[in-house]
Amino acid sequence: MRKGQYLLLFSYTLYRIVTLYLLLLIHFLTHPLRIFARRKVFPCPPSLQDQSLGMHQFITVNGIKLHYVISGPENAPVMLMLHGFPEFWYSWRYQIREFNKDYRVIAVDLRGYGESDKPLDKSAYTRQQLTSDIIELISSMCQDKCILVAHDWGGILAWRVVQQRPDLVKKFIVLCCPHAKRYMELVRTDNATLLRQWYVLLFQIPLLPELTLGADNYLSLKRTFHGTASGLINSHRMDDDSMQAFLYTFSQENALKCPLYYYRNMFAKDIKIPKAQKVEVPTLLMMGVHDAFLSLELGEGNEKYVEDIRVKNINGSHWLQQDCPDEVNKEIRVFLET
Ligand SMILES: *[C@@H]1O[C@H](CO)[C@@H](O)[C@H](O)[C@H]1NC(C)=O
Ligand SMILES: *[C@@H]1O[C@H](CO)[C@@H](O)[C@H](O)[C@H]1NC(C)=O
Repeated sequence: MRKGQYLLLFSYTLYRIVTLYLLLLIHFLTHPLRIFARRKVFPCPPSLQDQSLGMHQFITVNGIKLHYVISGPENAPVMLMLHGFPEFWYSWRYQIREFNKDYRVIAVDLRGYGESDKPLDKSAYTRQQLTSDIIELISSMCQDKCILVAHDWGGILAWRVVQQRPDLVKKFIVLCCPHAKRYMELVRTDNATLLRQWYVLLFQIPLLPELTLGADNYLSLKRTFHGTASGLINSHRMDDDSMQAFLYTFSQENALKCPLYYYRNMFAKDIKIPKAQKVEVPTLLMMGVHDAFLSLELGEGNEKYVEDIRVKNINGSHWLQQDCPDEVNKEIRVFLET
């Protein structure tokens, strides 16, 4: 990135942060007692114990205990699902119910999320550590190659898995997450794409982001999924019970801090993926037409980095698999059957 672009991004981020905290200040001046409301503990909703979504199990890989929910015929091919931020295994509920008819579906809580271990050391959340979790998880749970399904941050890790260990993945389905090189390419040449990433800088600030997301009973978290700026287009797909599942999960100890460490390590040195090597695993990329964080241009031009890629734009928000489950599931089916 050029100097002018850094300047542009910093000033825009500063502007967004000032507006954000001004709005928050006004909110608390008008509702002063709510400053303390964060202490509320949300009860565990029935949805998180829904048997039709599978059995809750744990596995230790790469020195970390991961929680996952597993369902479907025991000898069926494994379909592994990796969620994004700020989400957890339950984001895949609509896909689990559809695909556990004929796949062994495993939806995992990534390190630092949900019921998985949450080490409190920032350096435990480098992309390479997180990728190793997934590589070891696949190696220990699959006899054969798996179908890898990933969204958002899960996608960032999954792209690394298919580049480092193509032998582990038969087909790759990724939502709202282009190839990293395509992302960098567009950030350099398109200022609109660059500026949509302002929150990545916001998350670098210590403590403030977790306090903001948690303030007033997780108001910002609720708005993330139900607000006009970034919320689901089909908001009934995230009903009260599902929202309770998110609130219960993210109101646990350190449940916001650890996921934010993913962002706080983004600029840390990391293992470089070998250049010039194209992804060999057949890939389906789905982008959301109304994604508040990623433009549709990010879905274009990935052919340069992937040998065999199909791109579909779905009429939904960034929370694509929850927002448009019928369309997403249909595209996955078509991709797996051809
Ligand atoms: C992006 O913004 C920088 C800094 O303002 C400017 O120098 C550059 O020309 C812009 N790039 C494009 C493609 O508009
Ligand atoms: C996309 O969804 C919105 C909101 O439901 C709807 O108004 C619009 O007509 C849809 N567009 C297409 C092309 O289906």
